[in-house]
Amino acid sequence: MAVQWNPPCEGNVMSSSVYSELAPAAATDAKTLAQEFLHGLKQQPKALPCKFFYDECGSQLFDQICELKEYYPTRTEERILRNAIPEIVPLCGPGCLLVELGSGNSSKTRLLLDHLEKPAAYVPIDISHPHLMNAVKRLAQDYPHLEILPVCDDYTASLRLPTPSSEPERTMIFFPGSTIGNFTPDEARAFLQRIASNCRSGDGFLIGVDLVKDRRLLEPAYNDSKGITAAFNLNLLRRANREAGADFRIKQFQHCAVFNETESRIEMHLVSNCSQRVRIAGEEIQFAENEHITTEYSYKYGVETFCQLAATAGWQRVKTWTDPRHWFSVHYLTL
Ligand code: AVJ
Repeated sequence: MAVQWNPPCEGNVMSSSVYSELAPAAATDAKTLAQEFLHGLKQQPKALPCKFFYDECGSQLFDQICELKEYYPTRTEERILRNAIPEIVPLCGPGCLLVELGSGNSSKTRLLLDHLEKPAAYVPIDISHPHLMNAVKRLAQDYPHLEILPVCDDYTASLRLPTPSSEPERTMIFFPGSTIGNFTPDEARAFLQRIASNCRSGDGFLIGVDLVKDRRLLEPAYNDSKGITAAFNLNLLRRANREAGADFRIKQFQHCAVFNETESRIEMHLVSNCSQRVRIAGEEIQFAENEHITTEYSYKYGVETFCQLAATAGWQRVKTWTDPRHWFSVHYLTL
């Protein structure tokens, strides 16, 4: 896939930032999306990839989830990062290239950008184009001297890194939010290895990992009282209707999130209320009553278990930070 560059945004009169956008590699056109949905719905048990959550509406719902009182990860990780900043900054050193995987609204990154010594550039990578460009516009206003090189891409498929105008001292991968938990441990290892293959010795990986804890804390975080997580989960079906021509009756499905202790993961499902058929991509999918679609896993790790996993992918732990209650962890790993 050829790397394509767009000229820097012309309307950007607000600041002197340089930013050129790396165009989406695989445009998720309606046909591809419909085929991918169909593929997932033909699996037994039915499963859809959680990256499909993040269309414009889903990305907004996710931002609302992060503000919920039950959803502790965002707040907890932010506090850990804020406290760890004096230690993180020297680890990154001057002139680092800050690459963020799944940057969303880039709110946690501001903590780093406020303190890093002359970063070479910031590369936010996100699958949702409007969300990414909104975040970039606001960052460009607030950090006028920062080179921002947004990449709209599915980082689980490929990692394409743009070249900043000044040669970076090292690359620092930032992967907050415990998104690593969306992979099974085997997938996570493969993913960490693939990131490592894009990095050099001495490069850093700052990663947030949610920790195993009592289901009485875990389950409400994925079953909030305002129903935002339910709306986020059900938006997957709305998206299938909007973008893939499906005819899901949303009211006939229910959000469900449970902690599977044996696998140490939260499982999100969409459960069919009744026996029904759904049309998508010219085919018909049968649902039995109570049959579910698995939409997301969110694995919870122990600090040591995670660091051992990362080590098998070549990443050595330099430092781990947690909150006083040990709900969440942030790790600085190096190659
Ligand atoms: C940011 C993808 C890790 O698993 O906690 C939040 C996504 N799903 N509520 C998580 C999510 C439901 C979140 N990740």
